[in-house]
Amino acid sequence: MVEYHLAKVEIGVRFPVTAFMKNEMIKKRILTGDRPTGPLHLGHYIGSLENRVKLQREYETYILIADMQALTDNADNPEKVRKNILEVAFDYLAAGLDPKICTIVIQSLVPELAELTMYYLNLVTLSRLQRNPTVKGEMQEKGYGANVPAGFLMYPVSQAAHITAFKANLVPVGEDQLPMIEQTVEIVRSFNRIYKPVLVEPKALTSKITRLPGTDGRAKMSKSLNNAIYLSDSSAVVAKKVMEMFTDPGHIHAEDPGKVEGNPVFAYLDAFDQDVKKVDELKKQYQKGGLGDVEVKKILIEVLNNFLNPIRKRRAEFAEKPEQVMRILKEGTEKGRKVATQTLKEVRQAMHLDYF
Ligand code: TRP
Repeated sequence: MVEYHLAKVEIGVRFPVTAFMKNEMIKKRILTGDRPTGPLHLGHYIGSLENRVKLQREYETYILIADMQALTDNADNPEKVRKNILEVAFDYLAAGLDPKICTIVIQSLVPELAELTMYYLNLVTLSRLQRNPTVKGEMQEKGYGANVPAGFLMYPVSQAAHITAFKANLVPVGEDQLPMIEQTVEIVRSFNRIYKPVLVEPKALTSKITRLPGTDGRAKMSKSLNNAIYLSDSSAVVAKKVMEMFTDPGHIHAEDPGKVEGNPVFAYLDAFDQDVKKVDELKKQYQKGGLGDVEVKKILIEVLNNFLNPIRKRRAEFAEKPEQVMRILKEGTEKGRKVATQTLKEVRQAMHLDYF
């Protein structure tokens, strides 16, 4: 006891804590998340998951499994959301998020996030919500028109609540989420101006490859478009999906010159093959003529399976112990709720809602 005390004093004397050290000690925060509507795919990995895994040591990292957001367009299918909580958690852990250093939180178990959303809704207009390009696109895809669920239209506001309740500095996301961060910044500025400067302005972090195309050649890989390769796909399924993949429709014979732009096979090689020189050679050969689709696809299958093998192995290990993963989620949620509770206290004070 005494020794410990002395040691502490000594350190204080010999190494006075400088502003630099203080900055070093207070880690900046990350918050990001996913809707649990299905297992995660390669697009999620490239768009955001890879960055989270890389940054989890440098930043205090919170990852939200956004089950309430998933319900905004799945109100009639709660079992799907429930089931996919674990699937998404398996994917996180398999991809390398370490529950010892990053905190995984279930949205619905942090009611403070819903409360904060209600306050923010007064700072956002209906026309602003209707202008969000990502929401607009999704509404079109789902054919909602005027019958859009109100909860769906305002999910970017709840997302602003997620980010700011955790006072996140950085939000690693796919490109389609940039409008959400923009809207969050607007809300933060309004709130801080009208009430008190309590909230932190976040920045988005996108990856080098901003959007991974689907196996059908469409611009975005997505579960709802049925053009995704999942982190949990077996090697046989990956092989089948790659063999059926869209390429250059004008590239009929191996000898024909082929197009690399808009050809997802090469987009995936760019994203997952570490050997940039080899990929460049393949591209040149393909463009010139003399490289068949089947041949490049075989290379891609190997690259993807090499990338996915360790993820599959870890996933299988976690999938054997769902209780352990549920415990990780429970503990993460409890820890996350404390952070949100503290922010809400400050928010209520700033809004003069601290009555007693
Ligand atoms: N909307 C995000 C998606 O569909 C998921 C999400 C929910 C999120 N809350 C968030 C992302 C907060 C970043 C920050 O991928």
